[in-house]
Parts: sequence; C-alpha cells; structure tokens
Amino acid sequence: MSRVLSVPGIAYGGDYNPEQWPEEVWAEDVRLMREAGVTMVSVNIFAWALLEPREGEYDFSRLDRILALLHDSGIAADLATPTAAPPAWFFRAHPEALPVDKDGRTLSYGSRQTFCPSSPAYREAALRIARVLGERYADHPAVVMWHVHNEYGCHNAECHCDTSAAAFRDWLRTKYDDDLAALNHAWGTTFWSQWYYDWDEIIPPRPTGAVPNPTHQLDWRRFCSDALLSLYEAEREVLREAAPGLPATTNFMVMHNFDKLDYWRWAPALDIVSNDHYLRSTDPESQIDIAFSGDLVRSLAGGPWLLMEHSTGAVNWQPVNRAKTAGELRRNALAHVARGADGIAYFQWRAAKAGAEQWHSAMLPHAGTDSQIWRDVVRLGADLRALAEVRGSTGTAEAAIVWDWSAWWAVELPSQPSGELRFQDLIRAWYEPLWRAGVAVDFVRPDADLSSYKLVLAPSLYLVDDEGKANLTGFASGGGTLAVGFHSGAVDENCHIRLGGYPGAFREALGVRTDELFPLLPGESVGLAGLDENSTGTLWSERVALAGAEAVASYTSGPLTGVPAVTRNAYGSGTAWYVATRPDPTTLASLLDRIREEAGVESVRTTPEGVEAVLRRGPDADYLFLINHGEVDAEAEVSADATELLSGKGIEGGSVKVASGDVAVVREPR
Ligand code: GLA
Repeated sequence: MSRVLSVPGIAYGGDYNPEQWPEEVWAEDVRLMREAGVTMVSVNIFAWALLEPREGEYDFSRLDRILALLHDSGIAADLATPTAAPPAWFFRAHPEALPVDKDGRTLSYGSRQTFCPSSPAYREAALRIARVLGERYADHPAVVMWHVHNEYGCHNAECHCDTSAAAFRDWLRTKYDDDLAALNHAWGTTFWSQWYYDWDEIIPPRPTGAVPNPTHQLDWRRFCSDALLSLYEAEREVLREAAPGLPATTNFMVMHNFDKLDYWRWAPALDIVSNDHYLRSTDPESQIDIAFSGDLVRSLAGGPWLLMEHSTGAVNWQPVNRAKTAGELRRNALAHVARGADGIAYFQWRAAKAGAEQWHSAMLPHAGTDSQIWRDVVRLGADLRALAEVRGSTGTAEAAIVWDWSAWWAVELPSQPSGELRFQDLIRAWYEPLWRAGVAVDFVRPDADLSSYKLVLAPSLYLVDDEGKANLTGFASGGGTLAVGFHSGAVDENCHIRLGGYPGAFREALGVRTDELFPLLPGESVGLAGLDENSTGTLWSERVALAGAEAVASYTSGPLTGVPAVTRNAYGSGTAWYVATRPDPTTLASLLDRIREEAGVESVRTTPEGVEAVLRRGPDADYLFLINHGEVDAEAEVSADATELLSGKGIEGGSVKVASGDVAVVREPR
C-alpha cells in the first residue's frame, strides 16, 4: 500500500505545542497560521504526561479540541506519538527503565528521552499509548500522518545498563546464529585473552583499562541503532493496524554529527522520510551544510522528503546562538526545497514562554506579529504556495558519494594510525568543491545500484564488505569513474585488516600497493608536484607503489619525496583514481574538476560567482533554483520559454536577475 501525504503542494508548518498555552491563545494561533499559509502542523510530540495522567488512565479531551480546531481551520495534523518524553510517574513505577551512561551513571528523569531503549517497561508503555492514540484518531479528518516519537537517539542512543547488555547478547546471538565461536572469530578475541566461553560473559563496551576490542565496539553501535529502530517499527506497526492507509514518519537528523543511527537501515521503514536541520553559529557557509544535508536525506528517501524542523532564527543549544540575517530564513527554506523537500516546517510554531527552550526562535516570536521573523514567515508561505507544482520532482545527479555508517564508526575507533580522521569532515572536504562547482550529487550505500552514475566518489570508506568492494570496483571496470580517498578499503565488515598491502579492497582496481602508512601530524604538510602550483597535502600520506596506475602527483618533501600521492588507473573499461593525501582545498577542487570532466559530469548550470544552482526534475519541466549567496546582484541564463515561479512572471531574453540574497525558481519546460 502506498502511504503518501495528502496535503497538497509544498506542506508548510511547524511543531505546534498548544498544550503549553492557555486555550484562549489557540484561536489566535489558527488565525495566524491561516494568515501565514500554514497547511500542516505536528502536534502532541511531548504531551504524554497530559494525555495519560496515571498509568492506563487517559484524558484526550484537550487533544480532541486541538484536532477539531485544526480541522475546522483547514490545517492538517501530523499527529505524534508522545513517546520521546515519558512522564515522571512512569519512572517512579519503573526506575529500571532509566538509562545508564557508559560510566555507569543512572540518568534521572526531568528532561526528555531519558529511557533505556531496551527496557521492556518502556516498550510496553510506549506501545500502549501509541495504540490508544492510533485507535482514537485513525479516522480523524485532521490527521494526515503519524509522527512517530521524535529524533530517535538524540539523547539516549546508548544505554549501558544490564537490560541493554542482555538485549545486546540476544542481538549478537541472532547475528552470529547462536554460534559463539563465530563471534569470537569475528571479534578476533584470541587477542588479549578476550575469548568468550559463555554468551553471558559479553557486556556492552564499558570503560575498561586499555583499548577495547574494535569489533565489539562496532557491533555495539550497530546494536544500538537497531534497538531504537525496533522501537520505531513496533510503534509503526501498532499505528498501521489502527490506520492502514496513513503514512508514518520519524524525524531524522542526518547532520549534527549524527553518527548514532544507521539511517540506511532506517529509511526503508519510513513511509515518508523527514529530517531536522539546524545551522551552526560558527559555520560561515551554512548554505553548504544545508545542501549536504538535503542531498543526503533525498538519497536516503530515494526522492522527495520533508523538512520536519529547522529554525526561523536563533536556537538555544549552542554556546552563542546567532539570529538569521536579512533574507536568510527564506534562502534556507527554499534551499531545502531545492534539494528535494516537499514540505517545510519549523521548530516551532509559537516561541515558548517557559521551559528549557524558551530562548529558541519560532514562527511566531515572543515579539508577536510586529517582527521581522513573522513578516518573513508570511512571505515564505506565499513562496511555498507558488512552488506547489515542484512537489514530487527530484534530483538529476550523475555523480555519487559513498556514505556508510559502519565505515564512519570504524574509522573513528580508537587506536587508528591517526586519531585525526573525522568521517563527516573527510566527506565534506570533497562535497564542498563539488557544491562550489554546482555539480549535483547523490549519496549512496557501497552496495547501491550505480548504473545511473558516471562518477562515484569514496572520500572515506575505511570499512567495506566484499559486496561493497565488488560493487564499487565493478562500477569502475564496467566503464565508470571511481575516485577513492586515503585509508579506504582497509578493513572488512568485522574490522579485520585486508592483508597484502593497502588500500586492501581497492588495491587491484586502483593499480597501486602501499606497504606503509605515514599519517601527518597536526599542522604538518608536505609539498605536492603534478597538481596546482604550490600545492600541499596534510593529514595523511602513505608509501604508494604503482602496480599498473600512473602517478598524477607525487610528494616533493618529507620522507616520501618522489612517491606517488595521487594516481590514476585504467581499469577494465573505466578509470580508478586514488587520492592518498588530503590536498589543500584549492588543489582538491581542481583535481576533482579534472576527474569529473574526464568522467563527463557537468555542472547543473554555469552561474555567476555566489549563485547556487540546483535542479529538480519533474515529468514535464525542470525546476531550476537559483540562490544568490553573494554580495552583488547577478543574472543567470535560463531557457527562452521559462517562467519564474516565485514572481509568476515569464522570462524575457533568456536570462533571469537574482538580486544579492534573493532566490529565483525557474520552470523550464522540457
Ligand atoms: C530538536 C528537537 C526539537 C527541539 C529542537 C530545538 O531538533 O526535535 O524538539 O528541541 O531540537 O532546536
């Protein structure tokens, strides 16, 4: 059954928490929502304590009134199960459901998400309220989607209690087919006398005297992601039984250093993928982060998705919380739409008066409607209405970046050749020049179908299993262009080193063999010849020997002077590049330009400096988003019969003006 969102066009709204306000305020809320063009709000996210005052006793009267009011106002409800914040009574009755951190500290209730993901009492209570809620509102005319929980794992991705330990053992018994010897071999437990003779000897990777076993840690991360996924799936099942046709989502948070959940495993369990994205005050180019996030979410979703949360202005959880500058709210929201969002929502509708998030911005700020944010929110509502036809269109990438959570977890484990490698930074280093060049990219799993791509980049893929290896190298030998970053292919799915020389899995395809690694110290750099003038490498180097490949660049200083640093290999009917250091950003940009030009991957559009161009492709038209992040007004070429959707005007002379800070969305018939 296909469960799709019935709200038309680009949905618009935010988290709505009317239970935090006296009822007199509600009428103003919906009046202003209509003024802003809000079409859908997420309700009930943190309302458990009010809905179920005592175990098994419910009071739905307030929620009944909220949903009726929304329905009467023509606003749809994305109805949440409130399970991210169990009430105090629950923890008094079930203190064993409180989570234990890795240092053995039991956390207290008093905020949110302080439950153990493996607690049977929590699961039972969560499914009970989800079932009652599902049955009560399954046919409610306001309800268009289930918002299951909220940001799974945001605060409690790991619990180290004994219940979690037992659940971890069960998960391992399933994974290793009840074969303890298989686990011992996979974990390499002959090392340091770690051999297990009884499943009950296995505990979570709690702090221990020296470095813990890497595969133990890796399986633990996989288990923690699966433990939360199983809670999501259980709630979703209960809701499906009650309302088989309603779509379910839960909000991801793919940026924010979010290494906690393996979203490739999660995404297929969602009817609609949604994501939350927040700017970091310290990031001067947050437009790149938005694009990166959007491309990753669209790839997880395999098409359009919903932006479930972002902010109209400052957040409250950074050391200093920056407000948005003029036009930034609009650029941010439309940039998410450009990357495939079919809905734009904020945390939250009305700025809170009390509680831990009282200093967080909202659509309706503390200052009320006589405010810049409110004027921007109303204007954005009109913009999104003008973009209704964009819904359903999706990306056009010919290049893909490989992204894998196990590879992320593994490369950041302790006792690596270098403790300086950060997966997200390594990927962003390659994503950024592609963004600047206006190249459309998708993100893919190592075992994804790559047949629609000309170029596949693996900036950091420390861990890869045999299937991923065969898929990626087969892509190159079959005629594609593969580019691999250093310290990739080094280990298999159990974190065992692929012997015979580095970069293990990719040695043959890359036509190189490395016998020793020479990671660079913080601040250290080496000269490079063969690329841009005065180019340097940092972070990493290795003694690469050519085994069929040609050297494109080599080191001009340090112990590896004369050794290849970048190589290119003709492999089958394709090409495989190896980038064995981190070139300085300018050099990496020109190297990636060369690689993609050889692969035949072009920019979406050539645009003036500072103008981001993103394309969404629909059945009859392309939608070209032009976002001017620069200081000067610009003019971009478009097709002669194009229309600018935000203004509704036809375009004369085959070019469109985009003022500094402004956005144009151009429909080009196909
Ligand atoms: C998260 C949560 C919201 C809210 C915002 C604040 O994304 O899902 O409930 O706490 O952060 O930025």
